[in-house]
Amino acid sequence: MPWDELKPRQFPAFDKELDGISKQTMEDHYKLYEGYAKKANECRKRLNEFDYSQIEGNQVYSPLRAVSVDYTFALLGYKNHDLYFGHLGGNGGEPTGRFAELADAEFNGVAKWQEAVKKAASAARGWVIVGYDLNDGSLFNYIGDTQNLWAVYNMVPVLALDVYEHAYVADYGPTPDGRGEYVEAFFRNIDWDHVNRQLEQAEAAKQGADQSSVEEPAAP
Ligand SMILES: [Fe+2]
Repeated sequence: MPWDELKPRQFPAFDKELDGISKQTMEDHYKLYEGYAKKANECRKRLNEFDYSQIEGNQVYSPLRAVSVDYTFALLGYKNHDLYFGHLGGNGGEPTGRFAELADAEFNGVAKWQEAVKKAASAARGWVIVGYDLNDGSLFNYIGDTQNLWAVYNMVPVLALDVYEHAYVADYGPTPDGRGEYVEAFFRNIDWDHVNRQLEQAEAAKQGADQSSVEEPAAP
Protein backbone atom coordinates (compact mmCIF):
# COMPACT_ATOMS: atom_id res chain seq x y z
CA MET A 1 0.00 0.00 0.00
CA PRO A 2 1.63 3.30 -1.02
CA TRP A 3 2.19 6.02 1.54
CA ASP A 4 -0.70 8.33 2.31
CA GLU A 5 -0.79 11.58 4.29
CA LEU A 6 -1.03 11.31 8.07
CA LYS A 7 -4.10 12.87 9.61
CA PRO A 8 -4.33 13.84 13.29
CA ARG A 9 -7.02 11.75 14.99
CA GLN A 10 -9.57 12.63 17.65
CA PHE A 11 -9.24 10.90 21.01
CA PRO A 12 -11.83 10.25 23.77
CA ALA A 13 -9.40 11.66 26.36
CA PHE A 14 -10.13 15.17 25.06
CA ASP A 15 -13.82 14.88 25.91
CA LYS A 16 -13.10 14.09 29.56
CA GLU A 17 -11.69 15.79 32.61
CA LEU A 18 -8.48 13.95 33.32
CA ASP A 19 -7.30 13.52 36.88
CA GLY A 20 -4.20 15.70 37.28
CA ILE A 21 -3.56 16.55 33.62
CA SER A 22 -5.26 19.83 32.73
CA LYS A 23 -7.35 20.52 29.65
CA GLN A 24 -4.97 23.34 28.75
CA THR A 25 -1.98 20.99 28.81
CA MET A 26 -3.85 18.48 26.66
CA GLU A 27 -4.95 21.11 24.15
CA ASP A 28 -1.47 22.60 23.85
CA HIS A 29 -0.04 19.10 23.58
CA TYR A 30 -2.43 18.25 20.76
CA LYS A 31 -1.03 21.17 18.74
CA LEU A 32 2.41 19.57 18.93
CA TYR A 33 0.93 16.31 17.66
CA GLU A 34 -0.69 18.15 14.74
CA GLY A 35 2.68 19.75 14.01
CA TYR A 36 4.38 16.35 13.90
CA ALA A 37 1.78 15.08 11.41
CA LYS A 38 2.27 18.16 9.23
CA LYS A 39 6.06 17.91 9.23
CA ALA A 40 6.06 14.14 8.70
CA ASN A 41 3.87 14.70 5.63
CA GLU A 42 6.11 17.51 4.40
CA CYS A 43 9.29 15.45 4.82
CA ARG A 44 7.79 12.35 3.20
CA LYS A 45 6.55 14.42 0.27
CA ARG A 46 10.00 15.94 -0.25
CA LEU A 47 11.61 12.51 -0.05
CA ASN A 48 9.18 11.27 -2.72
CA GLU A 49 9.84 14.23 -4.96
CA PHE A 50 13.65 14.26 -4.89
CA ASP A 51 15.27 13.49 -8.21
CA TYR A 52 17.52 10.67 -7.02
CA SER A 53 19.51 10.71 -10.24
CA GLN A 54 20.63 14.25 -9.46
CA ILE A 55 20.44 14.81 -5.71
CA GLU A 56 23.60 14.87 -3.65
CA GLY A 57 24.18 12.10 -1.14
CA ASN A 58 26.53 13.41 1.54
CA GLN A 59 26.98 12.09 5.05
CA VAL A 60 28.12 15.43 6.53
CA TYR A 61 25.20 17.44 5.22
CA SER A 62 22.84 17.01 2.33
CA PRO A 63 19.14 17.81 1.99
CA LEU A 64 18.51 14.08 1.50
CA ARG A 65 20.26 13.27 4.78
CA ALA A 66 18.61 16.11 6.73
CA VAL A 67 15.09 15.33 5.55
CA SER A 68 15.55 11.58 6.04
CA VAL A 69 16.66 12.04 9.66
CA ASP A 70 14.06 14.66 10.53
CA TYR A 71 11.34 12.54 8.94
CA THR A 72 11.89 9.89 11.63
CA PHE A 73 11.66 12.55 14.34
CA ALA A 74 8.39 13.85 12.94
CA LEU A 75 6.89 10.44 12.16
CA LEU A 76 7.66 8.96 15.57
CA GLY A 77 6.46 12.18 17.21
CA TYR A 78 3.15 11.47 15.50
CA LYS A 79 3.07 7.76 16.32
CA ASN A 80 4.10 8.10 19.95
CA HIS A 81 1.50 10.78 20.63
CA ASP A 82 -1.11 8.72 18.83
CA LEU A 83 -0.61 5.96 21.39
CA TYR A 84 -0.17 8.38 24.32
CA PHE A 85 -3.45 10.22 23.70
CA GLY A 86 -5.16 6.94 22.76
CA HIS A 87 -4.61 5.30 26.11
CA LEU A 88 -5.42 8.31 28.28
CA GLY A 89 -8.97 8.81 29.52
CA GLY A 90 -9.29 5.52 31.39
CA ASN A 91 -9.74 4.72 35.05
CA GLY A 92 -6.11 3.92 35.84
CA GLY A 93 -5.42 1.54 38.68
CA GLU A 94 -3.42 -1.64 38.48
CA PRO A 95 -2.56 -3.13 35.08
CA THR A 96 -5.11 -5.69 33.95
CA GLY A 97 -5.49 -8.57 31.54
CA ARG A 98 -2.76 -9.95 29.35
CA PHE A 99 -0.51 -6.93 29.96
CA ALA A 100 -0.56 -7.65 33.69
CA GLU A 101 0.26 -11.32 33.02
CA LEU A 102 3.26 -10.50 30.84
CA ALA A 103 4.52 -7.72 33.14
CA ASP A 104 4.20 -10.04 36.11
CA ALA A 105 6.19 -12.80 34.39
CA GLU A 106 8.84 -10.46 32.98
CA PHE A 107 9.49 -8.33 36.05
CA ASN A 108 8.71 -10.84 38.82
CA GLY A 109 5.60 -8.95 39.82
CA VAL A 110 3.39 -6.19 38.47
CA ALA A 111 4.46 -3.92 41.33
CA LYS A 112 8.08 -4.34 40.28
CA TRP A 113 7.21 -3.46 36.70
CA GLN A 114 5.50 -0.30 37.95
CA GLU A 115 8.55 0.58 40.01
CA ALA A 116 10.78 0.00 36.97
CA VAL A 117 8.68 2.04 34.56
CA LYS A 118 8.39 4.96 36.99
CA LYS A 119 12.15 4.96 37.51
CA ALA A 120 12.66 4.80 33.73
CA ALA A 121 10.43 7.91 33.50
CA SER A 122 12.86 9.78 35.73
CA ALA A 123 15.86 8.63 33.66
CA ALA A 124 14.46 9.48 30.20
CA ARG A 125 14.60 12.91 28.56
CA GLY A 126 11.66 12.35 26.25
CA TRP A 127 9.79 9.08 26.33
CA VAL A 128 9.38 5.74 27.99
CA ILE A 129 7.96 3.16 25.62
CA VAL A 130 6.83 -0.21 26.90
CA GLY A 131 7.26 -2.48 23.93
CA TYR A 132 6.39 -6.05 22.99
CA ASP A 133 9.13 -7.86 21.09
CA LEU A 134 7.88 -9.73 18.04
CA ASN A 135 10.91 -12.02 18.07
CA ASP A 136 10.77 -13.36 21.61
CA GLY A 137 7.42 -12.16 23.01
CA SER A 138 8.98 -10.24 25.91
CA LEU A 139 8.06 -6.82 27.32
CA PHE A 140 10.71 -4.15 27.86
CA ASN A 141 10.72 -0.54 29.11
CA TYR A 142 12.63 1.49 26.52
CA ILE A 143 14.04 4.90 27.42
CA GLY A 144 14.09 7.44 24.59
CA ASP A 145 15.76 10.83 24.88
CA THR A 146 13.90 11.74 21.73
CA GLN A 147 11.22 9.82 19.92
CA ASN A 148 13.65 8.57 17.26
CA LEU A 149 16.36 7.24 19.56
CA TRP A 150 17.00 3.82 21.07
CA ALA A 151 13.90 1.89 20.23
CA VAL A 152 14.68 -1.37 18.44
CA TYR A 153 13.35 -3.20 15.42
CA ASN A 154 10.45 -5.61 15.77
CA MET A 155 9.28 -3.88 18.94
CA VAL A 156 5.61 -2.94 19.03
CA PRO A 157 4.84 -0.09 21.46
CA VAL A 158 1.96 -0.94 23.78
CA LEU A 159 2.34 1.91 26.26
CA ALA A 160 3.86 5.35 25.63
CA LEU A 161 4.71 7.71 28.47
CA ASP A 162 5.63 11.22 27.35
CA VAL A 163 8.06 12.79 29.83
CA TYR A 164 9.05 15.81 27.78
CA GLU A 165 8.55 18.97 29.84
CA HIS A 166 5.64 20.09 27.67
CA ALA A 167 3.62 17.16 29.05
CA TYR A 168 3.71 18.39 32.66
CA VAL A 169 5.43 21.74 33.32
CA ALA A 170 2.24 23.81 33.18
CA ASP A 171 0.60 21.51 35.75
CA TYR A 172 3.49 20.55 37.98
CA GLY A 173 6.51 22.77 37.26
CA PRO A 174 9.89 21.76 35.85
CA THR A 175 11.42 19.87 38.77
CA PRO A 176 12.03 16.11 39.01
CA ASP A 177 9.40 16.00 41.78
CA GLY A 178 6.95 17.70 39.42
CA ARG A 179 7.66 15.08 36.79
CA GLY A 180 7.12 12.35 39.37
CA GLU A 181 3.70 13.77 40.27
CA TYR A 182 2.79 13.91 36.59
CA VAL A 183 3.82 10.27 36.08
CA GLU A 184 1.52 9.30 38.96
CA ALA A 185 -1.28 11.27 37.28
CA PHE A 186 -0.57 9.59 33.95
CA PHE A 187 -1.13 6.17 35.51
CA ARG A 188 -4.34 7.35 37.21
CA ASN A 189 -5.75 8.06 33.74
CA ILE A 190 -4.52 5.10 31.78
CA ASP A 191 -6.99 2.96 29.89
CA TRP A 192 -5.68 -0.58 30.40
CA ASP A 193 -8.18 -1.94 27.88
CA HIS A 194 -6.50 0.18 25.21
CA VAL A 195 -3.08 -1.08 26.28
CA ASN A 196 -4.36 -4.65 26.13
CA ARG A 197 -5.79 -4.11 22.64
CA GLN A 198 -2.36 -2.94 21.48
CA LEU A 199 -0.81 -6.01 23.06
CA GLU A 200 -3.41 -8.29 21.49
CA GLN A 201 -2.53 -6.95 18.04
CA ALA A 202 1.18 -7.39 18.73
CA GLU A 203 0.73 -10.97 19.92
CA ALA A 204 -1.40 -11.76 16.86
CA ALA A 205 1.36 -10.37 14.64
CA LYS A 206 3.92 -12.55 16.40
CA GLN A 207 1.74 -15.64 16.02
CA GLY A 208 1.28 -14.91 12.31
CA ALA A 209 5.03 -14.46 11.82
CA ASP A 210 5.81 -17.61 13.82
CA GLN A 211 3.36 -19.68 11.76
CA SER A 212 4.61 -18.41 8.41
CA SER A 213 8.22 -19.14 9.40
CA VAL A 214 7.49 -22.83 10.11
CA GLU A 215 5.28 -23.48 7.10
CA GLU A 216 6.66 -26.01 4.65
CA PRO A 217 7.84 -24.43 1.42
CA ALA A 218 5.50 -25.06 -1.49
CA ALA A 219 6.35 -28.03 -3.70
CA PRO A 220 8.17 -27.02 -6.89
FE1 LIG B 1 4.56 15.27 23.77
